[in-house]
Amino acid sequence: MAVRTILKMGDPRLLCRALAVSDFGTMALRELVEDMFDTMRASDGAGLAAPQIGVSLRVLIFGFERNLRYPEAPPVPETVLINPFVEAVTDEMETGWEGCLSVPGMRGAVPRYTQIKYGGFDISGTPMLRSASGFHARVVQHEFDHLEGVLYPQRIRDMTKFGFASELPLNGALEA
Ligand code: NI
Repeated sequence: MAVRTILKMGDPRLLCRALAVSDFGTMALRELVEDMFDTMRASDGAGLAAPQIGVSLRVLIFGFERNLRYPEAPPVPETVLINPFVEAVTDEMETGWEGCLSVPGMRGAVPRYTQIKYGGFDISGTPMLRSASGFHARVVQHEFDHLEGVLYPQRIRDMTKFGFASELPLNGALEA
């Protein structure tokens, strides 16, 4: 159990496509996921991807019951998602504020699909499949992007809606 250093934007490792996990249920995978939860909770984040702590593997965690940073967000089930896929089930997109633990202090308005289907495997290699909408769908799309080497500023369409959290008229924003 350890809180790991979170890489910040500018570090080239955040721009790499992460590698698929091939061995499930291993001690190394369990330790990685434990460290990710410790690290996410220490920063009060809504999610974390393994590349953010310098591990180039397709491992995501996300979820929370209630988060002080986004009190209006509905709870998202605590999830470990390995080798995930994400598929939009609508063309409809919605713009919402996001932050990222790898882009500290900043927020930007990012369009995301409002409804998705996603799946992958848990830590033991058991497959899962879910539907998600709204904030839950936003969190998953943000985290999945980390596995493709994409950070949310690359998705902002209106750069006037990108700035420091302290200066923007925010009412809670995802940070993941
Ligand atoms: Ni992020």
